[in-house]
Amino acid sequence: MRGLHVTVAALLLSTTVALADASALYEKCAVCHGAAGEKSGLGKSKIIKDMSKADFIASMKGYQDGSYGGPMKNLMAPQVKALSEADIAALADHIIK
Ligand code: HEC
Repeated sequence: MRGLHVTVAALLLSTTVALADASALYEKCAVCHGAAGEKSGLGKSKIIKDMSKADFIASMKGYQDGSYGGPMKNLMAPQVKALSEADIAALADHIIK
């Protein structure tokens, strides 16, 4: 008799990338902010490539904890929710030259 083969399906969990891949992270932002951060998000946000890195990082963290934002901050909050500090720093380096 053959033994019972238990196949454990490999669970491909999309875990947070340890080494932040900024261009992949930025893909979803580009829809609103432009491929290079050159557009105002839905006509409401600053041109993010023209922000200082410090302001960019502060605003990202502020959207995460609810302390930053204008009338559309509830739209930005879910965009930044899952980002780690390293992700945010990588995004700042990617967008702001
Ligand atoms: C669905 C459109 C949309 C997407 C996707 C989006 N944003 Fe935004 N973003 C906005 C809008 C609208 C605002 C202005 C929100 C407010 O009222 O505070 C904003 C604000 C910002 C600000 C602050 C600018 C300011 O005016 O103070 C930064 C920085 C930013 N977004 C970065 C990002 C990044 C990085 C991503 C991807 C992780 C992203 N956004 C995804 C629409 C979007």
